[in-house]
Amino acid sequence: MKFLFINGVNLNMTGTREKGVYGTQTLEQINKEIAARFKNDECEFYQSNIEGEICTKIQQADCDGVILNAGAFTHYSYAIRDAIAAINIPVVEVHMSNVHSREEFRRKSVLSEVCKGVICGFGKNSYILAAESFKL
Ligand code: DQA
Repeated sequence: MKFLFINGVNLNMTGTREKGVYGTQTLEQINKEIAARFKNDECEFYQSNIEGEICTKIQQADCDGVILNAGAFTHYSYAIRDAIAAINIPVVEVHMSNVHSREEFRRKSVLSEVCKGVICGFGKNSYILAAESFKL
């Protein structure tokens, strides 16, 4: 299968920011582990802190499934939501942390409604579980 992993705002700081929440591994290290796990699949990794760039990447997606951790954009980006709704490729929303056990504002996602499913709370394994879900 062909997967596109998209990470949004501040996810490039993974490994150095809020280590108690997001762990000590960098995004690059996490992506390497994911690529090794799905070595028989094609994995593309993309990260941007810019909302419009994420929309463009979603619009241009050419794969079997998108795994999207939009970071804080999750909670308010109608632009990313519309980009997901505009394509015919399934998108799984992912969060490393359990957003429901944190601040109130993290409980609201404007993306979930247009996503195939949501996985949160399993750290880097949230990405792996999301990709696995496309194989069920
Ligand atoms: C996050 C959760 C978001 O609320 C937060 O803004 C992030 C990361 C997660 O992976 O747990 O940047 O998406």
